[in-house]
Amino acid sequence: MSNNNGFMGWIDARFPLTKMFEDHMSKYYAPKNFNFWYMFGILATVILVIQIVTGVLLTMHYKPDAALAFGSVEYIMRDVPGGWFIRYMHSTGASAFFLVVYLHMYRGLIYGSFKAPRELIWIFGVLIYVALMAEAFMGYLLPWGQMSYWGAQVIVNLFAAVPFVGEELSIWIRGDYVISDATLNRFFAFHVIAVPLILIGLVVAHIIALHEVGSNNPDGVEIKKTKGADGIPLDGIAFHPYYTVKDLMLIVVFLMVFFAIVFFAPEMGGYFIEHANFEPANSLKTPEHIAPVWYFTPYYAMLRAVPPIFGSAFPGVVVMGLAIVVFFFLPWLDRSPVKSIRYRGMLYKSWIAVFVVSFIVLGYLGTQPSTPGKTLAAQIFTTLYFLFFFLMPWYTTVDKTKPVPERVTDK
Ligand code: HEM
Repeated sequence: MSNNNGFMGWIDARFPLTKMFEDHMSKYYAPKNFNFWYMFGILATVILVIQIVTGVLLTMHYKPDAALAFGSVEYIMRDVPGGWFIRYMHSTGASAFFLVVYLHMYRGLIYGSFKAPRELIWIFGVLIYVALMAEAFMGYLLPWGQMSYWGAQVIVNLFAAVPFVGEELSIWIRGDYVISDATLNRFFAFHVIAVPLILIGLVVAHIIALHEVGSNNPDGVEIKKTKGADGIPLDGIAFHPYYTVKDLMLIVVFLMVFFAIVFFAPEMGGYFIEHANFEPANSLKTPEHIAPVWYFTPYYAMLRAVPPIFGSAFPGVVVMGLAIVVFFFLPWLDRSPVKSIRYRGMLYKSWIAVFVVSFIVLGYLGTQPSTPGKTLAAQIFTTLYFLFFFLMPWYTTVDKTKPVPERVTDK
C-alpha cells in the first residue's frame, strides 16, 4: 500500500519505493520450511558486496603495470593503513565466494531447484558461475606473482589448442606472444569493471526470476498451489521480517568465521594464496609445480586426465569446457516427477553421492603433481562425473519415488 503522506508519500508519488519493498520484502511470501541450505544465496550476496567494496579500495593503491604491480601489492600489505586487512578480505572473499556458490549449487541439486518452473533461475545461476570463474582467473593475474604469471600462461595457452585459429586466438587474448604488460592491463580492465558489471546484472536477473516464480523448498512442494482466502500461500511467511531477521543472524555467524580466517589463516596453507605467489613473476623461471587455486582444481584434473591427440591438448580443453556447459542442461536431463531428494529413490541419491565424491576427489587430484596412478584415478572420476549427467534421463525415469505431500512438512 503506497503512503500518501509525508516524505514517503512524496517519494512514492515519484518512485515506487514502498511498492518495491512490499513486492520483494514485506509481502513476498517465502516457504516457511527453509533450512540451512537456503542460507547460501544470501551469503553469496553478502560476499559480492564485500568483494566490490574491498576491490574499490584496493584499486585506489594498486598499479596495473608489469613493472609496478607486485610492488604495489606489497605496498598495500605493508604501508597502506589497514591495507593488509582489505587485501586479505578480498583474497579470502574469493575463496569464500566459491565455497558458498558450490554449496548453493549443491542445494539446487538435492532439492531439484533447477526443475520447472525455475529453469531460468538456474540458467542465470550457471552464467553467474561462469562469470565468477572468469573474474577470479583474471583477478589472480593482478598481483603479478609467480603463480599469477604461470597460471595465466598455462590457461591462455589452452586457447592455442583450438584447431586452425588457436594460435591467433591466444595472441589476441594476451595482446602479446607471452603473458605481458598488455595482458595485465586488459585483465585489470575486465576484472575491475567489465565482469563485475555482468555479474551484478546477472545476479539482479537471478533474483527477479526467483521472485517471479517463488522459492522452492526442502520438500519441493509448490506453496503457491495452496492459498488462503486472502490469496496468501498457507505455507508462506513474509520474507521481511521473518527471514531478514534469520538471515541477519546467519550473516553474523558467517562473518565470525570469515574474519577468523582473514586474521589467523589468510593464506590457508597455500590453498587461498599459493606460496609461489609471494615471489614476483619471472618469465625465465617456471615454477616446479603449477596448480590453480582450489576452486579450479576439479576442472584442472579433468584437463590433465584427457590424453592429447596428435600432440594437441584440444580434447582436454573440450572435456573441461563440457564439464561446465553440461550444468545448463540439467533441467532437461532430469526426468523425475519429484523435486526434493526427500521423495526421490536410491538411484538419484546414489548418483548425487557419486557426483560429489568425484568432484572432491578431482579437486584433490588437481592440486597434486601428476603420476600415472593419479592420472588413472582422474580418468575414472572424470568418467563418473559425466555419467552423473549423461545417465540422468535414464535413472531419473526408472527411480522409485515416494509420494510428495500436498503441504510442506514443517518439522
Ligand atoms: C553471485 C552468486 C549468486 C548469488 C548472489 C545468488 C543469490 C541467490 C539468492 C539470494 C537466492 C534465494 C535464496 C536461496 O535460495 O539461497 C538464490 C536462489 C537460487 N539460486 Fe542463486 N545466487 C548465486 C549463484 C547461483 C549459482 C551459481 C546457481 C546455479 C548454478 C544458482 C542457482 C539458484 C537457484 C536454482 C535458486 C532457487 C533455489 C530454490 O528456490 O530452491 N545461484 N540465489
